[in-house]
Formats: sequence, structure tokens, C-alpha cells
Amino acid sequence: MSHLEPLSAEDFRLFQEFFVAETGLYFDNASDHLLLDAFQERMKVKGHASHKEYYHYLKYHPEGRIELRELLVLITTGETYFFRNIAQFEVLMNDVLPDIIRRKRAASDKSIRIWSAGSSRGDEAYSVAIAIMEVLPDFRDWDIRILGTDINRDVLAVARAGVYTPKDIGELPPDYVEKYFVRDRSDYVLSQDIKAMVRFDYHNLARDPFTQDVMKGLDIIFCRNVTIYFNLETTRELMARFYDSLLEGGYLFLGHSETLWQINHSFQTIEYPHTFIYKKGPRAVVPKAPVSSITLPVMAFEGDLPVRTASHDHKAPAARDEKPRPPVTSDMKADVLLTEATRLYQEKKYDGALATLDGIAAHHDEHARAEFLRAVIFADQEKYDEALAQIQKVVKKDSLNVEAAFFLATLYAKVGKLADAETLFRRVIYLEADEPLAYFHLGNIYTSQKKASKASLEFMNAVRILEKRKPEDPVRFSEDLSSGLLLQSCKHNLTPLPKAGGG
Ligand SMILES: C[S@@+](CC[C@H](N)C(=O)[O-])C[C@H]1O[C@@H](n2cnc3c(N)ncnc32)[C@H](O)[C@@H]1O
Repeated sequence: MSHLEPLSAEDFRLFQEFFVAETGLYFDNASDHLLLDAFQERMKVKGHASHKEYYHYLKYHPEGRIELRELLVLITTGETYFFRNIAQFEVLMNDVLPDIIRRKRAASDKSIRIWSAGSSRGDEAYSVAIAIMEVLPDFRDWDIRILGTDINRDVLAVARAGVYTPKDIGELPPDYVEKYFVRDRSDYVLSQDIKAMVRFDYHNLARDPFTQDVMKGLDIIFCRNVTIYFNLETTRELMARFYDSLLEGGYLFLGHSETLWQINHSFQTIEYPHTFIYKKGPRAVVPKAPVSSITLPVMAFEGDLPVRTASHDHKAPAARDEKPRPPVTSDMKADVLLTEATRLYQEKKYDGALATLDGIAAHHDEHARAEFLRAVIFADQEKYDEALAQIQKVVKKDSLNVEAAFFLATLYAKVGKLADAETLFRRVIYLEADEPLAYFHLGNIYTSQKKASKASLEFMNAVRILEKRKPEDPVRFSEDLSSGLLLQSCKHNLTPLPKAGGG
């Protein structure tokens, strides 16, 4: 692909730190094609011969800021569509907007402020405008402002144009398409009424202050599928700022996989049959994490732990373990300890990793994540009873933690507790309707129980989801499974349809 020098580990780390600081975006793979292709393209345009030179230009040259924006167009992914996560739009229209409208009417305040943060091509912000027009017939008498912001200049241009493809509007009820769009050959052009309600601006959630009027006194914030690319610290800071920007009782909509677990305690979770959202509650008093007394290199510890399926047929021999470290003191920053423990675990230095985790005191914010990692380590060593005991604690404390639920489900399946595994995989699907691997595992469970028709239903559910994805898309909860490969396996399990069975 690239005729350039490969990206060295050292250069990758420089860019990694730079992106986190400038945009919140965390890249964890030095051979990420999106990144390498973007570097190649921009370095060619700017005439830089090495990654290091380009890095210095970005970071120190007076025009580095401008260049960063060019680069962001290439490295940010903007997957979005109208009424994405339809369950949340049902909640918006049936509960959230009626609640806001009722309260506003009671206070003789006819204004509504909504922010779609990380709006991409505008589908989300415009979907909100459609929802408002549907539930508020006299919307013209109200002062309604919807703001969409993003760091990708190109997607903002698409949003402002308001012209969409059949794929973008695929999830919209047909009568809404008819009402709010005009056909122009194969395109769908948004109506002026909708466009007039929404404004789009460049804004970097990780760095830029919330200066605009519409970013304060908000009724609702949508920030869906944005912080999955952020590191924990950036997400925490952002959620704290969102909290301040919302009115009392304001709502926060996050993506399927983005919970506030271990991130912000001041929001209340509101659960619905197929989704959940957050509501601003009283500010929680959280003990402050002690300031770190050690300086370890800042390494990746991301929101998702390296969840394994606990089914390693070919185990690499465990590396000679490091000597367990001296007991660590609770005034070391918990996330630094977690980072270090993760590194040791990845190097298969299990004892060192466990000893490091011991340093995270039970009262710490990070304690549940430490318990999670402990469970992963035990499972890797095939100590399934210990792994189960650990992860059960995590799931008990936080029933919305989908990673933990998934991991517990796979462990149950591994030790043959299929009924428990089934319940937990169902919970994963309940929390995240679109997780094909959960359906796949359910299919396998039913197959092993000779419930053929139930199994086929689950494999078909997985196929339905996977067929909408690109073959190279990664599969959540797996280490390196691609969507294409999982699709093949599901189809393979479907044909020929097993004859026998209940289900
Ligand atoms: C996957 S899209 C999500 C779009 C929409 N919210 C949805 O769920 O359909 C993520 C968007 O977040 C934007 N983004 C990433 N980092 C950002 C940042 N620091 N500030 C603002 N937007 C950011 C990306 O450019 C991208 O358009």
C-alpha cells in the first residue's frame, strides 16, 4: 500500500498522544489503514518525506492546525443514518419530548435547545427535528434550536446541504420520507422547514469550550457513537461538561455501547425495554482519585477491556512471569495501575498483573474495571471458577455493563451452564440489539441442545445484522473476528437447516 517508510512504534506513539490531546481520538493500532492512508495522502500533498517530519509540521508549524483539519476529514469515521437506534427515537417521541414540552408549558417557556454533538452528516440532528415536528404540531410558535457539531469539515458540508441517499433514510418510516423529503432523481432532499430548525458548526468536543448560546441551558444532548473513539479521561471530562450544559432534568442520549458506568455518577439511567437513556440528576459527590505519586509512561487503557471469549485452543506458552511487585499504595492513580496491569496481562505476566491490580483499593472508581481484568486473567489461565466469581461481582454491581455480561455469558457457556449463558446473552441483546456475536453464541447453544429451529432463528438474526456491515468491520467482543468471517460461519451453520429438534 504505502511506498513510505512504515510507521515506527515511536512515531506511532507520538501521533497517538497528539491525537488524544488534540481531538480525544484514540488510535490503538499502528497498522490502522485509515490512519496510514491518510498520512500518505497528506504527506504527499504537503511534501513531507517522513512521518516524523509530518508530525513536527502538525504539532509545531503555525499552519499545523489547518493541516489537522485536513487530516481529520480523512481519519474520522462518520457512519450515521436517519433514526439510527430507532428505540431511542421512540423514547424521544413518546416520553422525552412530551415531558419537556409539558414542563416548558407549565413554566410558560416556549424554547427547546438540543445538541447533536458529533453529528456527522446531520442525519441525527435532522431526525430530531422530524421527531419534534411530529410531536409538536404548533412548533412554529416555539423557539426551537437544534445544533449539530463535528470536527470533520466535509461531513458538515453534507449536513448543511441536506441531500441524502436511499441508504441514509432506509430506517425512516415511509410516511416521514414522504412528508419531509422531496425526491430528486435518486436523492432525497430535506424540506426547508426541517433545515431551518438545525444549524451546523465546526466544534471539537475534546478541546473547544462550549461558548455558543445553544450549548448552554440544553434540554437534550445527543452524543452517540462518538466517545467510543475517545480515551477514558476525555470522555469523563466531556460528560462533566455535558452535565453542566444541561438544564435540570435534561436528557443525555449516548450510543448503544457507551454507558456512563465508571464515568459519571450524576446522571440517572432510565431503562426502557429496548434501550436506555440518561437524565441529569443531582450532582453526585465522588471521592477524588488521589494524585499519582509515580510516573509511568501513559499507555493505552481503553474503555473496553480485552474481553476474550475464553476459548483459546492454541495457547501460547505463558511468558516467564515478572516477580510480583511490591504492594502498591492506594495513592497511585488507579488508572495508571490498570494500564500497567493490562500491559502485564497482555505480556502474559499474570502474577505481576494480579499483584498490580491488588493496589487498586476497593473504594476506587476503577475497582470494578480491575475486577473485570482479574476475571479476564483467570479465564486466560483456565481458572474458570475464579474467573466466574470475579465477573459475577461486576455484573451484579452493574447490570448495564454489556461487556461484563457478554464475558460472563461466554464463561457460562464454556463451563456448560447453558441456561445461564442463554440468559446473559439475551441480556446483551436487550442492551445492544445489534450484537451479532451474541446471536451467534445463542445459535450455537441451541444447536448443542438440538433445538434446530431456535438455532436457525438466531443465526438468521446475526446474518441480518452482518449483511448490513462491511466484511472487514470488526466484530465487537471478539479479538480479531471480522464481520465477513462471522457472516460466513452463520451461513454455514444455517445450511443445510438442521432437521431434527424442538426450538
Ligand atoms: C460514528 S459518527 C456518529 C454520528 C451520529 N452521532 C450517529 O450516532 O449516527 C462519529 C462522529 O464523531 C465525530 N467526532 C470525532 N471526534 C470528535 C471530536 N473531538 N469533536 C467533535 N466530533 C468528533 C466524527 O467526525 C464523526 O462524524
